[in-house]
Amino acid sequence: MPRILLTGATGFVGSVLATMLLARGVQVTAISRRDTAGYRTLAAILEAARGCGIRFTAEMADRLRTFDMGDRALSESLDDMAIDDIDAVWHCAADMSHSGLRLTQAFNTNVCETAALYRWASTKLPRCKRFYHMSTAYTAGMRGGATEEQLHAGQRLVNAYQVTKWAAEQALHTLHAACNLPVTLFRPTIVVGHSQSGWTRRNGFGFYMFVEAVEAARAAGQTRVAYDMPDGPCIDLITVDSLVRDAVDLTLQEHDRGNFEVFHCAGGRSMSSRDMLSMIGDLLGVQIVSAPAESSHDRVFARAVGPNRPFAEMDWDFRRTRLDAVLGRDSGAEPVCTTQLRKLILWYVDAIRSAGDGAVVPAEAAG
Ligand SMILES: NC(=O)c1ccc[n+]([C@@H]2O[C@H](COP(=O)([O-])OP(=O)(O)OC[C@H]3O[C@@H](n4cnc5c(N)ncnc54)[C@H](OP(=O)(O)O)[C@@H]3O)[C@@H](O)[C@H]2O)c1
Repeated sequence: MPRILLTGATGFVGSVLATMLLARGVQVTAISRRDTAGYRTLAAILEAARGCGIRFTAEMADRLRTFDMGDRALSESLDDMAIDDIDAVWHCAADMSHSGLRLTQAFNTNVCETAALYRWASTKLPRCKRFYHMSTAYTAGMRGGATEEQLHAGQRLVNAYQVTKWAAEQALHTLHAACNLPVTLFRPTIVVGHSQSGWTRRNGFGFYMFVEAVEAARAAGQTRVAYDMPDGPCIDLITVDSLVRDAVDLTLQEHDRGNFEVFHCAGGRSMSSRDMLSMIGDLLGVQIVSAPAESSHDRVFARAVGPNRPFAEMDWDFRRTRLDAVLGRDSGAEPVCTTQLRKLILWYVDAIRSAGDGAVVPAEAAG
């Protein structure tokens, strides 16, 4: 079984990846911030295991090693790690801020730290065969339409997250030729919770920004929101278990693959963004009327979901032909169905209400 070095294990996607790798017999070394005794990482993995219906066994715990980088940047802590038995790196840590005000910080984390980790892995991990980078399908920019599994150039990008994730892909492409460590760019679309339990992390990111905003409107006493979402475009959602299953299957493949590969991990599109928003409204008892804002409350709502609007009103057809071919699958993932969507929404609303702190302002959640 390969030994994997993993960043971002305290986050949503990384914690599920750690859990599923451990469950499949893989040894995982997780590097996390502010995690003196490894408790943050372990707590995140235990929560993910519960959410995914996986029993966390003593054997799984034995296969987990944690490394605390304290308050230092990843690049400053790497040389303290006395490990050389790693077979592959999964880099999931990322600054998820959308705000242009945080562009420099996001660039440091998403581009500079990624490049530093890659350089370090290529020189200090003699057994390492591949560097997996968790990117995003939205490095494709805002053109929409059929989008192939390849690098993109010259496309319009609308936020700091997109810009820095795009730049990280370019940096890895530039570095891989000189460093000789094969790179996989793994690009999820919009990741939602577990397909069966609905479990996720409450981070107000992506699709959940709309759930947070409708719940905030409901909590403020609104029974009706006027919001002019155009009809037609569908967003592509992928459940976290489906995404991570593909990531783990790729990791466990034994045959050699290319030196630089790009995969879309898309779930497919089943419902228009407008219908999804109506469904959130129906479940929360808030009527969503497709019309321009009529009141100051409606304008607050529009501002709150503003960062995600460009993504909800554009149609992308993310091709995943290469990923399916490498995984030997005849067809890609099943699009999220209405029943699952309902469960995902209700799980999230329940999490907001049981936290008792009200809905966060979604734009703040996105940085
Ligand atoms: N969620 C989605 O819809 C989605 C879609 C496409 C791609 N992705 C990609 O999936 C990956 C994980 O996303 P996620 O949804 O799991 O996000 P998340 O829950 O916010 O997790 C982010 C992780 O990155 C770590 N991190 C953030 N800034 C860091 C820094 N400066 N130094 C070291 N670690 C840092 C966090 O550590 P702390 O716990 O210490 O903050 C956390 O472990 C990202 O690369 C993202 O681009 C996510």
